[in-house]
Amino acid sequence: MATGNPFRNRVALVTGASGGIGQALARRLTAEGASVALAYGANAKPAQRLADELVTKGGHALAVGADLRRADAAAELVAEVEPQLGSVDILLAAAGLGRQQTLEEISVEDFDEMLAINLRAPFLLAQQTLPGMQARGFGRIMFVSSVAAFTGGIVGPHYAASKAGLHGLTHFLAGRVAGDGVTVNAIAPALITDTGMLPGEPDELRSRVPVGRLGQPDEVADLAIAMLRNPYLTNQVVSLDGGMHPR
Ligand SMILES: NC(=O)c1ccc[n+]([C@@H]2O[C@H](COP(=O)([O-])OP(=O)(O)OC[C@H]3O[C@@H](n4cnc5c(N)ncnc54)[C@H](OP(=O)(O)O)[C@@H]3O)[C@@H](O)[C@H]2O)c1
Repeated sequence: MATGNPFRNRVALVTGASGGIGQALARRLTAEGASVALAYGANAKPAQRLADELVTKGGHALAVGADLRRADAAAELVAEVEPQLGSVDILLAAAGLGRQQTLEEISVEDFDEMLAINLRAPFLLAQQTLPGMQARGFGRIMFVSSVAAFTGGIVGPHYAASKAGLHGLTHFLAGRVAGDGVTVNAIAPALITDTGMLPGEPDELRSRVPVGRLGQPDEVADLAIAMLRNPYLTNQVVSLDGGMHPR
């Protein structure tokens, strides 16, 4: 039986914390008592603004920049966060690139960039943080996938493939670290409003969702917190898509 608050005095690293979903995740983790590193890419302002707000309210938060297209960025990010907040106990890999392109348009560089941000960076961050989690006997890793991993989606084949890769990564890692108190899961949202990731106009996209509306970043954060709280939930990809998959 899980007892107590598993987030209190833990250190969380949230990538994509300048974006809609990452911001909601960072808010909720801080509210639960975690110290949170809010990692951003090109847009420092929203991450810095939220970190300042969370600190003003008595939380422990820090905004850190890292361009996850670079292979060295994951190690640099962890090396910057840990001396300031402590060892990373919770990795929430939410950063993602969602550039919409057709099969014909995608160059080798486009494909590699998509995979570097959406798949390689989560892998490298997990590689950096998992050994410490195992040694301390507690850890949480959550990858932010997409319904596109199941359906192909409408962003592009590189996006769908990158997100499906996260599922394989989840399954590879989860079984190997389950005995060390570390859970590894993925959450697969679809069509979440107030993000920079919507592949079209909200009115047109709404009609694709069986529940008849777009999802909210807070709804993603609600589910993520429930998944992270539960030590018996591991090796899962959980969809949050208003009924889009399966249909
Ligand atoms: N919104 C949806 O409908 C939806 C649906 C399915 C899955 N998702 C997934 O949810 C996750 C969060 O996205 P979101 O919906 O919150 O969209 P968003 O508002 O556009 O946020 C995307 C985040 O990814 C970061 N990012 C992009 N390229 C980066 C890079 N090179 N280095 C570091 N960070 C980078 C962005 O940082 P900067 O802006 O600072 O560069 C931003 O914080 C993504 O993985 C996305 O694929 C979203």
